[in-house]
Amino acid sequence: MLKIDFGSGYNAKPGYKTCDITYAPFLDYVYDIEKNQIIGCEKKSVDEFYMRNVVHHIKDLQKCFSMIKEYLKDDGSLVIIDTQKEYFLQNVILDIIWYRFVIPRYEIWFSKSYRDYGKVLTDLGFVKINNQTINEKEVSLWKKKL
Ligand SMILES: C[S@@+](CC[C@H](N)C(=O)[O-])C[C@H]1O[C@@H](n2cnc3c(N)ncnc32)[C@H](O)[C@@H]1O
Repeated sequence: MLKIDFGSGYNAKPGYKTCDITYAPFLDYVYDIEKNQIIGCEKKSVDEFYMRNVVHHIKDLQKCFSMIKEYLKDDGSLVIIDTQKEYFLQNVILDIIWYRFVIPRYEIWFSKSYRDYGKVLTDLGFVKINNQTINEKEVSLWKKKL
C-alpha cells in the first residue's frame, strides 16, 4: 500500500510517504515541477495522494492533477484539504506574511484568488466521493475511476 503526502513538508501524515518540491534528503520523493514528475516513483503505483494545504500553491492545476492521475493506481484516490472560498482572502494574507516575511521562500507560489479545483478534477475524469467542510477547510475525496 503506497500512500503519499504530496506537499508534505518535513512532517508527513503518519503512514504516508513524504513528497515535496525541495530536493531535501529527508524526503521519500521529490516532485520536480519543471519535469512534472515524482522522482523515483513508478506510474500507476500509488494508492492514495493526500494534499493538505497544497492545492493553492499549485500554479497549473490541470498539469499537476494530470500528473497525479498518471501515478495513481486505477482504483486509487486523492484526498484534498484546502481553504474554503469564503476564507480564501485570510489565507492569502497569511501566506504573504509567512512565505514572504517570516520564513521567506520566494520559490513558493500561491494563488491570490480562489480557484475551482473541483472542476479541473472533474474535467480530468476524477469522481468526487465525498465532500465536507471543517472550520475554514474544505475536505474532499476523489477517485481516479469509480
Ligand atoms: C502550507 S504547506 C503545507 C504542508 C503540509 N501539507 C501540512 O499540511 O502541514 C505547503 C507545502 O506545499 C509545498 N508546495 C509548494 N508548491 C508546491 C507544488 N507546486 N507542488 C507540490 N508541493 C508544493 C511546500 O513546499 C509546502 O511544504
